[in-house]
Formats: sequence, C-alpha cells, structure tokens
Amino acid sequence: MAASTTEDYDVCLDDYKYIFNPSLLKGKVAFITGGGSGICFTIAEILMRHKCDTVILSRKLERVNKSSRRLEEATGQRCLPLQLDVRKPQDVLTAVDKALSHFGRIDIVVNGAAGNFLCPAESMSFNAFKTVIEIDTIGTFNISKAVYDKYMKHHGGVIINISATLAYRGQMLQAHAGPAKAAIDALTKHLAVEWGHQGIRVVSLSPGPIEKTEGIRRLGGELEEARVTSIPLQRFGTKKEIAEGVVYLASPAANFVTGTVLVIDGGSWLTGTNDFSLAKPLLELMSKM
Ligand code: COA
Ligand code: NAP
Repeated sequence: MAASTTEDYDVCLDDYKYIFNPSLLKGKVAFITGGGSGICFTIAEILMRHKCDTVILSRKLERVNKSSRRLEEATGQRCLPLQLDVRKPQDVLTAVDKALSHFGRIDIVVNGAAGNFLCPAESMSFNAFKTVIEIDTIGTFNISKAVYDKYMKHHGGVIINISATLAYRGQMLQAHAGPAKAAIDALTKHLAVEWGHQGIRVVSLSPGPIEKTEGIRRLGGELEEARVTSIPLQRFGTKKEIAEGVVYLASPAANFVTGTVLVIDGGSWLTGTNDFSLAKPLLELMSKM
C-alpha cells in the first residue's frame, strides 16, 4: 500500500472470471464520472466486459484518454473519454450532448467523481468544506439532472451514486466528506421518488475501504491497514467487488431496486473506530504526500 501515487493502479485486470452473463449489458451505454481512475476505472472495465459501451469523464483529459485506450484494448468495447468539471453546469451539459451524439443513448449513469482529504474541522477553511460539497453533492445533482433532461426522462435508465459510510456514525477528519456523501444518499431517495414513474431507478452504492485507490491513500490507508482486524471480513475490499455491485444494480436483477443504498464494505462501518491517537500521525503522513 506504500504508494506515493495511485496512477499505476489504473490498469485492467489480468484475469477476469465471470459471475454474471458476459452479455448482460449488451447494447447499453454507461456515463461514468471519475471513470479515468480508481474504483470508477474498474467499474468502467467490468461494465465493458459485460458488453456495455462507456463514456468516462474527469478534469484531466490526458488521464481519461489514456484510460480509455486501456479499456478499449482490454475489453473490445467502445469508450469515449471526455473532459469536464462536474461543478460546472456548462461543462456537464456539453459532455452529455457529446455523449449522446456519439452513442445516441445513456442507459446507466455512475456518479463517482469526488474529492477528499483528511482535515480537522477546526482547521478546515470555508472554501475547503465548500469544494468537497460542490464536487460530490452538487456534481452528482448536475450530472443526474442533465442526463435526465436530455435523455432519461423519455427513455428511463439507472443512476448509481457512489457514496460512503462516513456519516453513518460520524468520523474524525471527515466533516466535509461525510455530509457531502450523506446528502448524496438523500438525493438518491428524492430522485428515486420523483423519477420512478418515468422508468428511472436511482440507487447509491457505498463502498468501504478499497485497496489500491486514491481514496484509501488519501485517508491514510498505510496506517489504517494495520487495523484491518477491526473489519468483520478482515480485509480491505477490491475495486472489482465494487464494480460487480454496479453490474448487479444496472442489471435486470435489480429491476425493482430503487431509492436505497447498497453498502459494500465487509461490515467495516459497524465496527470502525474513531481512534484519536491516530489523528496526528495521519495528518503528518498526509503532509508528506
Ligand atoms: N487539507 C486542508 N484543506 C485543503 C486540503 C487539505 N489536504 N486540500 C485542499 N484544501 C483546501 C484548499 O486550501 C482550498 O481552500 P482555501 O481556498 O481556503 O485555501 C480548498 O480546499 C480547495 O482547494 P483547491 O486545491 O483549490 O481545490 P481543487 O478544486 O483544485 O481540488 C480537491 C479539489 C482539494 C478535493 C483535490 O484534492 C482533488 O482534486 N481531489 C480529487 C481526487 C480525490 O480527492 N480522490 C479521492 C476521492 S475519495
Ligand atoms: P479517485 O481515483 O481519486 O477518483 C475520483 C475521481 O473523481 C478522479 O478520477 C478525478 O479525476 C475525478 N474528479 C475529482 N474532482 C472532479 C471534478 N470536479 N470534476 C470531474 N471529475 C472529478 O478515487 P477513488 O478512491 O477511486 O474514489 C472513487 C469514488 O469512490 C469516490 O466517489 C469516493 O468518494 C468513493 N469511495 C472510495 C473509497 C475508497 O476506499 N477508495 C471508499 C468509499 C467511497 P480528475 O482529477 O481527473 O478530475
């Protein structure tokens, strides 16, 4: 886990054993924010391995371009890389237009773009709090609303919001990300209620600590790894396990599932502790990154 960057983790799986039918998502198109890296890169890969085409989007065009080439090569499906900042409505509207003119449809949205860092509330600037709320919560609304207006309200679809369990009990150094993700889970319920009659399902997927990701690196995975025994299933999760949760939620097996949260965390939120003795070493570790 002692990585100074997670860039090298964004590679496709060497060997993939299917659980679901390999053609499960044939003919579908998924629009995945944050799809150039980490968990959402693997979500794109596994959806594509089930014959879905994808659009992957984030701020760094070079990264989504490179990831898209890797994904197409590994899966034989099409992947359109696009640049956007989910905080900017004009970027979002333009990206949805480009995706629709390229593929003609968007069946699945994965709202995965997020920002996070460890910070005590007492030293968090007003702008630091606002920035995380803007990327996570407002970004999720912006994308959902634009895809709804331009496509899903007439065709239906599924929106999968990637949240987190931080706010279930409160967690130190996360006073920005906890509320941002809790608001996403609330938005999931509201949109599910309003848009269900148009054939749109809206669900949250809430991962626990996932190995080989930027999220775990930023939240001090290196230190927390020693404490893995506190997780009921005794390990961090894998990106593949989250991606397979997305395949389920996007598939007909979940046709009656909406307005709820699927937690995939090995039970960690039930037992995870707020160990205040770790706060200082965690912040020191982060300051060296
Ligand atoms: N501790 C405390 N405050 C921090 C911080 C940290 N580690 N990193 C950023 N901030 C503050 C900045 O100081 C700034 O506040 P200020 O204007 O009052 O000084 C505010 O947050 C915005 O920072 P900025 O760097 O301008 O934002 P950005 O929009 O360029 O980047 C971040 C957004 C900060 C979330 C950045 O970390 C990012 O791009 N993250 C994406 C990847 C990621 O977080 N992955 C994990 C997902 S779980
Ligand atoms: P990651 O690789 O850093 O993913 C975050 C992605 O969001 C990046 O691709 C980033 O790309 C993009 N992004 C950030 N700000 C953006 C913006 N303003 N506009 C557009 N794109 C933006 O981290 P990860 O760990 O895989 O996390 C993926 C998701 O899982 C996040 O929602 C995270 O909160 C959630 N999660 C992760 C864990 C974990 O253990 N890792 C646990 C719980 C929840 P650019 O920098 O190119 O924009």
